[in-house]
Amino acid sequence: MSKTQGISIPKQWCNFLYDFPQYAGQDVPRGVALLTQGTRRVSVVPQQPLSLVTQSNSISEPYHEIPERLLELYSQYRPTPLRRARELERRLGANARIYYKYEGLNVSGSHKLNSALAQAYYYAKAGIQELVTGTGAGQWGTALAYACKLFGLRCTVFMVGASLRQKPQRRAMMELFGATVHESPSDATEVGRKATQKDPERVGSLAIATGEALEVAHGGKRVRFAVGSGENCVLLHQTLIGGEAVEQMGALGEFPDHVVACMGAGSNFGGVGLPFLRAARERERSVRLLAVEPAACPKLTRGLYALDINDFSGTTPINRMYTLGSNYIAPPIFAGGLRYHGTSAFLSAMLADKGFDAMAVPQREALSAGLLFAECEGLLPAPESAHAIAGALDLARKHPGDAPPKVILLNISGHGLFDLSAYEHCRSDTLAPDAPNEALLSESLRHVREFNTRITGASS
Ligand SMILES: Cc1ncc(COP(=O)(O)O)c(C=O)c1O
Repeated sequence: MSKTQGISIPKQWCNFLYDFPQYAGQDVPRGVALLTQGTRRVSVVPQQPLSLVTQSNSISEPYHEIPERLLELYSQYRPTPLRRARELERRLGANARIYYKYEGLNVSGSHKLNSALAQAYYYAKAGIQELVTGTGAGQWGTALAYACKLFGLRCTVFMVGASLRQKPQRRAMMELFGATVHESPSDATEVGRKATQKDPERVGSLAIATGEALEVAHGGKRVRFAVGSGENCVLLHQTLIGGEAVEQMGALGEFPDHVVACMGAGSNFGGVGLPFLRAARERERSVRLLAVEPAACPKLTRGLYALDINDFSGTTPINRMYTLGSNYIAPPIFAGGLRYHGTSAFLSAMLADKGFDAMAVPQREALSAGLLFAECEGLLPAPESAHAIAGALDLARKHPGDAPPKVILLNISGHGLFDLSAYEHCRSDTLAPDAPNEALLSESLRHVREFNTRITGASS
């Protein structure tokens, strides 16, 4: 098994539900009775293999074993490096030691492959022949296309229109691995046609792309919807990142004061951060996690903690989560992977208890931080990851010079090699405004409040 910086790939995923059982069960698995957008209860056939359902719900064991076949595949690109950002520290002149974990060294260019491989493995074992999904910026779609290729599954991807037009190379990558790719909203589904009426320019959102994928999955035999983030099993697969990073920091004699990551639906943030919460308890240390989101899609800092659905069509189970409403279409920022209206139910419950910190960053600030990181460290981060860098810079700059140095770990969730136009726009000061449309945002939040009143009334 491959080793990086003297450590091997963890043989187990870290079951954070064991550490925080009080936040388990916020995530209603598909396959149980669902309460639809109105008041009607419908039953659907089980959608996920039992292994994934168990991983999303079990609170009884501290770890889940990783199957041997997956360990072999993870060793194609794991352990991923953890490095100290010395040039960045020098440039900032801040009183901080800054480390970064880098997840961009695989074909998908991001952390997404950690869960894509696991899901394709379990679905293939369960006799499924095709996986369908929605993807924002295309990293998840690319990861799933590759994983499906390895396990002999067909793959269909609905990619958010605004992102696909920004990054047509993503389509080429997915097609390279045999996936069928639709620009969402598309004409291929009822959900897509309905969404196009409200969104004639086909900007799209992950909620719409997900709705389209679910429609296709429900219409086919041996076809299933694969989820890119948010569900507990996906966060679990991503704990490889934090599991490795705990060991790597330990080998350097370090433990972070802060772990910083960007937040889409939460698997990246949870994946790097949650193992550190366990490690801190075991080592009697303290650590604070910081989630960084785009100001264009500020669900953690301006959203409601309320019941909501994950997709535009209302097919998914209802979760209590931080949300801007599934109708909210965020401005088409380049960090397409952070444009999702909601968040993981588990992480939302934790945030409601102030279990971590959150901040929102405008697009220009994030991309400028990404450029600074590239100049200093020689790695171009994905626009999503650039948000984490902006968060880490903020922490480092605010830390007083006469205190003991802060130790900050940030996760660079992906590379930005398909995002050069984002950085060009940033450098030439031609980025489009990214502030949320306040009227649309308050309308969407109003809709969430009404939905909650209706649901609470209907189920009491
Ligand atoms: C590079 C990158 N970072 C972060 C994210 C957000 O991920 P998550 O939903 O796991 O929080 C994405 C999502 O597509 C991404 O592509």
